[in-house]
Amino acid sequence: MITSGQPKVLLGVTGGIAAYKSVEILRGLQRNGVDVRVVMTAAATQFVGPLTFETLSGHPVHLDSQWLRSDSGIAHVEEGREADLLLIAPATANTLAKMAQGIADNLLTTTYLAFSGPVLVAPAMNANMWSHPATQQNLALLEKRGVVVVQPDEGELACGVYGAGRMAEPDGIVAEVKLRLQVESKSDLRGLRVLVTAGGTQEPIDAVRYIGNRSSGKMGFSLARAAHDRGAEVDLVHSNVKLPKVPGVRQVEASTADDVYREVMARLPEVDVLIMAAAVADYRVGRNVDGKMAKKRERLTIQLEPTADVLCEVAALEGGRFVVGFAAEFGLEGLERARGKLERKNLDMIVFNDISRSDIGFNVDENEVVILTPDGEVEVARTGKEVVAERILDEVARALRRRRKAGVPA
Ligand SMILES: Cc1cc2nc3c(=O)[nH]c(=O)nc-3n(C[C@H](O)[C@H](O)[C@H](O)COP(=O)(O)O)c2cc1C
Repeated sequence: MITSGQPKVLLGVTGGIAAYKSVEILRGLQRNGVDVRVVMTAAATQFVGPLTFETLSGHPVHLDSQWLRSDSGIAHVEEGREADLLLIAPATANTLAKMAQGIADNLLTTTYLAFSGPVLVAPAMNANMWSHPATQQNLALLEKRGVVVVQPDEGELACGVYGAGRMAEPDGIVAEVKLRLQVESKSDLRGLRVLVTAGGTQEPIDAVRYIGNRSSGKMGFSLARAAHDRGAEVDLVHSNVKLPKVPGVRQVEASTADDVYREVMARLPEVDVLIMAAAVADYRVGRNVDGKMAKKRERLTIQLEPTADVLCEVAALEGGRFVVGFAAEFGLEGLERARGKLERKNLDMIVFNDISRSDIGFNVDENEVVILTPDGEVEVARTGKEVVAERILDEVARALRRRRKAGVPA
């Protein structure tokens, strides 16, 4: 389980003299708020001890020696799944050649192949190795496939000669990683149509009374704004909110559960990602009264009938769209119910929040959630709804990348 929303970088260290500089890269990334995990090749461990990286990163270092063991999990898939970016620094001529050819004979090269996010390499080698046509062709191929190459500097090399091949300075590599993380997070929903529902429905009893809930719509609005910022074309179906419009987002009011159903279904054929953050009534009044119901001194019974379950219906439809539900549940045992709902409704993701607490969730600016997918759970500690929205979209983008990698259209 991942317990924080920090950006995560997987640092691959290969067997070159510059491996000692990877320690500085790790520290630089940490200073910038990045959680760094390290994979070392066997050759790299001859240059720097894994204990150094283990101590500084605060995580076990992944090594080939533990990789092909039945009790060590599928490290090459698991580490890659959790990372936002793979950085290989230094990258030896050997590892670059394997990457270019798709050779997966150690943990790092296998992780590279299994990884679907952005990849940066910082080559470091002797000047002749660097200028060799094999190395240059491998790099050209990798660049063509989207790998970002942090070009080496010219200078005095470890072998005593002067030339190109010296790994770029750690500060420059850290800056490049930060830039890529920003670019990624800002545009990772580009080209997608996202539909968000927000607020709480009101089911009329008569012309002036209704059955409603305390949802303010802030979570859904934060999601719509964040999805738009990340490049998506966004529609926002909102119910009874008192919030300012979100620039660049198409908005439509849907007061009742029936209205939400209609507005969502009308837009669905075009939608890639549906995020149902609205608190939609489970019941509507069976027969509502025209005008205002007169006050009487006797008991009043109002018959309720179930509304359509939009989430369930949408998730059951063909079309491969990514469906996110919200589970506003009472108490932590609600987490178990959310897990059940994820499976029962066949959702791609469900966001659990505990509405028994008054400091988070309904009608306040902060939230604390657990993001559940069939692949795992991510806890987001109490923070502003804007940050929670970013974390949810991080997970959506990550899941979509995995899908694309697996050849499933988003
Ligand atoms: C002292 C020493 C320094 C080396 N420095 C480099 C280097 O800077 N760049 C490089 O590409 N290879 C260098 N090598 C060669 C690599 O260690 C070798 O190709 C190894 O197989 C790389 O394995 P890896 O890519 O799995 O880490 C060096 C070898 C030795 C013995």
